[in-house]
Amino acid sequence: MKVDELGDWRRTHTSTDLGPKLDGKDVTVMGWISSIRKQGKIIFVLIHDIKGDIQVTAITGKTSEKMLTKLQSLSLHSVIAIKGKVKSISKAPQGAEIIPEEIKILNTSEIKPPFSIFGGELPGIDKRLDMRSLELRRPKPQAIFRIRHTTLVSVREFLSNNGYLEVQTPKIIASATEGGASLFPVLYYDKEAFLAQSPQLYKEQLTMCFEKVFEIGPIFRAEPSRTLRHLAEIVSIDLEEAYVSYEDVTKTLEKLVQHTMKTVADKCEEETKELGITITVPKLPFKRYTYTEIINVLQETGFKINWGADLSTSALKKIGEIYPDFYFINDWPTASKPFYIKPKSDKPEISESFDLMAGSLEISSGGTRVSSRRLLTNRLKDQGLKPKLFEKHLDLFDHGMPPHAGFGLGMDRLMMILTQEENIREVTLFPRDRLRLTP
Ligand code: 4AD
Ligand code: MG
Repeated sequence: MKVDELGDWRRTHTSTDLGPKLDGKDVTVMGWISSIRKQGKIIFVLIHDIKGDIQVTAITGKTSEKMLTKLQSLSLHSVIAIKGKVKSISKAPQGAEIIPEEIKILNTSEIKPPFSIFGGELPGIDKRLDMRSLELRRPKPQAIFRIRHTTLVSVREFLSNNGYLEVQTPKIIASATEGGASLFPVLYYDKEAFLAQSPQLYKEQLTMCFEKVFEIGPIFRAEPSRTLRHLAEIVSIDLEEAYVSYEDVTKTLEKLVQHTMKTVADKCEEETKELGITITVPKLPFKRYTYTEIINVLQETGFKINWGADLSTSALKKIGEIYPDFYFINDWPTASKPFYIKPKSDKPEISESFDLMAGSLEISSGGTRVSSRRLLTNRLKDQGLKPKLFEKHLDLFDHGMPPHAGFGLGMDRLMMILTQEENIREVTLFPRDRLRLTP
């Protein structure tokens, strides 16, 4: 079918602008066709735009033959522009419909999509992700990504209002921060470099000049296994602050989570309704348990685990059954945390660290950082890392590095909690994992 150029046509109104008070007005609307229905002499076409549907009503005998033929020839998802007159009518989406006078077919949809976005049976996530942007026309992902937008705005607003400076640090970096195994190497001219696993070292450095910083940006982890809560590229909300300890930043973190959930609950009523969920704003303070207490609780239930072990998926599942809400696990064994986490002065086998959990899902990790060059060098060696590779970072510690603490909060995992989705892929536009690099 021949398609038309946009030319000098411009949209004058979107679906949300329409209403009975525009009765009689000439408008130009644009969107994709979400429904075509013939009822006797009338053809109803729904076109979907940025935020809703617009009803275009053509009537045999009144609308030109040419227009009628064109409208009837179109398939769902085709993109059209209509010039016409608004007519107030209570049954239409905004209490108004459009009587078409001119039409441009801006693009057709010739091939039937592999799944219907209008309901009916949906294929599994992999098939949907293969055509992600088409899939994103569905009401459910529309709701999810509008909530994601509100979440981002709310996090930015909360941290900015509390005196944190938003920063952006490099994503192509020279060394590992979170352990070597999950690094993505890249060829940087003639050298080997890596995709950043975290802005960790940069955000720490920035506390010596800006004191309070945050970054919302991508981090990369070459996760070997495919799970419902791991991706290779995620967005992390990182915060770092001078002159505070891990206890202080847990207070900031819980307030941030509460504020965000409240904002989404208040501003995203339509979206949460679409998802069929209600957001319960959590009460503060969140419960705090130590790692040792959690191990004891696990052992009491008969779960086999020794002090010092990492919490496996099955251990986390068990703990999530006991503690389904938000809670902190504090004071992890020093050996299980990265080199930059500060061991307790009076008990160096335990560290000033925490994980924020939502049931069985870890959504954030943080802690007080080592701020002495000597200790940091020893910690690097303990973890089998070469201090030489971190020399530029270590040098700064000779020039007045303040004591500091911070956390990294997984944006995608926070979204899983906000939307009550079990698969992280549902809340990420274009997820990356071991088996997926496209689209
Ligand atoms: O626990 P992680 O590895 O901690 C850090 O990156 C530290 N630098 C943070 C700090 O400031 N001390 O990652 C932080 C959070 C996790 O709690 C999790 O929510 C998310 O990032 N995350 C992932 N989410 C999905 N897929 C992955 N592969 C993730 N890796 C980390
Ligand atoms: Mg962690």
